[in-house]
Amino acid sequence: MQIAVPKEIKNHEYRVALTPSGARELVGRGHTVTVQAGAGEGAGFPDADYEAAGARLEADVAKVWSEAELILKVKEPQPEEVARLSRGQTLFTYLHLAAEEPLTRGLMESGATCIAYETITAAQGGLPLLAPMSTVAGRMAVQAGAHSLEKAQGGAGILLPGVPGVAPAKVTVIGGGVVGENAARMALGLGAEVTVLDKSIPRLETLDDRYQGRMKTVFSTADSLEEAVRESDLIIGAVLVPGAAAPKLITRAMLADMKPGSVLVDVAIDQGGCFETSKPTTHAEPTYVVDGVVHYCVANMPGAVARTSTQALTNATLPFVVALADKGWKQALADDAHFAQGLNVHEGQLTYRAVAEAFGLEYVETARLIG
Ligand SMILES: NC(=O)c1ccc[n+]([C@@H]2O[C@H](COP(=O)([O-])OP(=O)(O)OC[C@H]3O[C@@H](n4cnc5c(N)ncnc54)[C@H](O)[C@@H]3O)[C@@H](O)[C@H]2O)c1
Repeated sequence: MQIAVPKEIKNHEYRVALTPSGARELVGRGHTVTVQAGAGEGAGFPDADYEAAGARLEADVAKVWSEAELILKVKEPQPEEVARLSRGQTLFTYLHLAAEEPLTRGLMESGATCIAYETITAAQGGLPLLAPMSTVAGRMAVQAGAHSLEKAQGGAGILLPGVPGVAPAKVTVIGGGVVGENAARMALGLGAEVTVLDKSIPRLETLDDRYQGRMKTVFSTADSLEEAVRESDLIIGAVLVPGAAAPKLITRAMLADMKPGSVLVDVAIDQGGCFETSKPTTHAEPTYVVDGVVHYCVANMPGAVARTSTQALTNATLPFVVALADKGWKQALADDAHFAQGLNVHEGQLTYRAVAEAFGLEYVETARLIG
């Protein structure tokens, strides 16, 4: 199969959809991989590494797209990329269509087959192609929070682990899912005193069991949130209510009860944020201060560690890419009901119910197309 890897063009996106080792796997299976010149540079993968892996390099972006049967990307296609798509091509990338009606309509008009990373499910539950980025963001949240606690960043001047004779910082993580567990684990590793709040008892049981009581697990209520606000030096917001905006768990009024120079890291900012005073920030200017509390609200945290994120993402996507390349989209989806959940658009038809409902468009079951 002719597989193309264009360079990402969204502002400040440095990831790439395939590493040189991924390219080598595909070439080894008899496929042709064309990488747009410079596509991997932002993630630390020079063109020469792709060439050494057996990929073709192409400087002309129009050719990269037009000659491909399967296009691999990271971010949702931008308008000029949608215009390059055509019937008969398969696009495999993050799409997040429920938030983007013009993109949804554009992809339908293109006639292409569009499979979204984020709607693919797994037999053991969860979203296997979203989880790697949540893992990155959760781990980064502690790094960002620790840095923000430094005096020069507006923080209280606290070192997370303390030192002998000085107590460690108190870290509260709200939401103990993929982001939350990874954040809590990092904070624990750095020697902080860690509490995780969640609404799900099974989730708290899992964490308690996994960490043998080394982190406190607390059921999330108005009371426990108020206590977290009073006591914590660093609070990490990591809640997710699927299909809904994040609930505002810390209000502006509650900031008055926080210690001056304490830090809020709102990882859920990509779903609107779980603190009332959160507003999206960028890596160029990640923090701001409200009522003496430092806020870190970067919406694309994994972008700062583009190399690690690229490797984590492509490890997760490669088995699906191999299936698409070896079997074609129809057979690959027919063979794997979880993979089939990824199909969002095919030849003008919408195959993902939540997206169709969001825009009042007709919905066609994937099973009808692959059966
Ligand atoms: N900013 C970024 O760069 C970035 C990157 C990755 C993920 N995220 C976001 O991080 C958030 C968490 O993602 P995840 O993969 O960990 O989700 P997840 O589904 O694995 O975990 C969410 C957890 O929140 C809990 N929860 C829901 N409502 C709650 C409440 N009121 N109080 C306490 N806990 C509650 C759930 O029980 C669940 O355990 C999402 O909004 C996701 O979009 C952001």
